Amino acid sequence: MNAPRILVFAGSLRTGSYNLALAKAAAQQLEALNAQVTLLDLADYPLPIYDGNLEQASGVPAAARTLHTTIAAHQGVFIASPEYNASVTPLLLNTIAWISRVNENGGKLAVFGQPVFALGSASPGYYGGYRGLLALRHLLTLTLHSQVLPQMVTLSQAHLAFNEQGQLKDEAAQNMLQEMAKQLVKAAHTVK
Ligand SMILES: Cc1cc2nc3c(=O)[nH]c(=O)nc-3n(C[C@H](O)[C@H](O)[C@H](O)COP(=O)(O)O)c2cc1C
Repeated sequence: MNAPRILVFAGSLRTGSYNLALAKAAAQQLEALNAQVTLLDLADYPLPIYDGNLEQASGVPAAARTLHTTIAAHQGVFIASPEYNASVTPLLLNTIAWISRVNENGGKLAVFGQPVFALGSASPGYYGGYRGLLALRHLLTLTLHSQVLPQMVTLSQAHLAFNEQGQLKDEAAQNMLQEMAKQLVKAAHTVK
């Protein structure tokens, strides 16, 4: 069986981001299951705030078109994103908005229907970003027709969660991440 291609990224640009730490920990788990992982940083794909006038004048920025092509080349996607005010971060929402305007490979939005998605969130608070993941799940499934795994990874008290090597200290949290990785690899095998 070929190694499934899995894209991993975080919905935060913050230096020391707990969600980037979670994304990296997920990438390690996925690689341990023989997945072919691409870990990308949205800082390398800067995008202006979506504006219909800008799109009309200059089209979709190259960074969004590259992200669209990158998603299309993967069978699974893991997003680790903080919740901001119990919802999706502006960074992630804006990135998804621009990608959804790329009219290639089956038309707008089609790319979100191809890979299987899995979601995670880390927060210093007690909810672990769970409410933001519900908003992200809603966005992906309802409007973008994505398949999103039921298993979600939420990490509360994230400022205490990682050791100096970037590994999760808590065994229950490690198990939750490992289970998500297993399910994502399994589901990604069913995607062309
Ligand atoms: C505008 C804003 C809104 C936030 N809203 C929430 C929230 O609703 N729930 C929560 O748990 N944390 C919230 N936080 C705190 C973030 O979880 C915290 O900053 C976290 O470290 C961000 O993730 P990162 O470490 O990956 O950058 C908010 C932070 C900001 C800047």
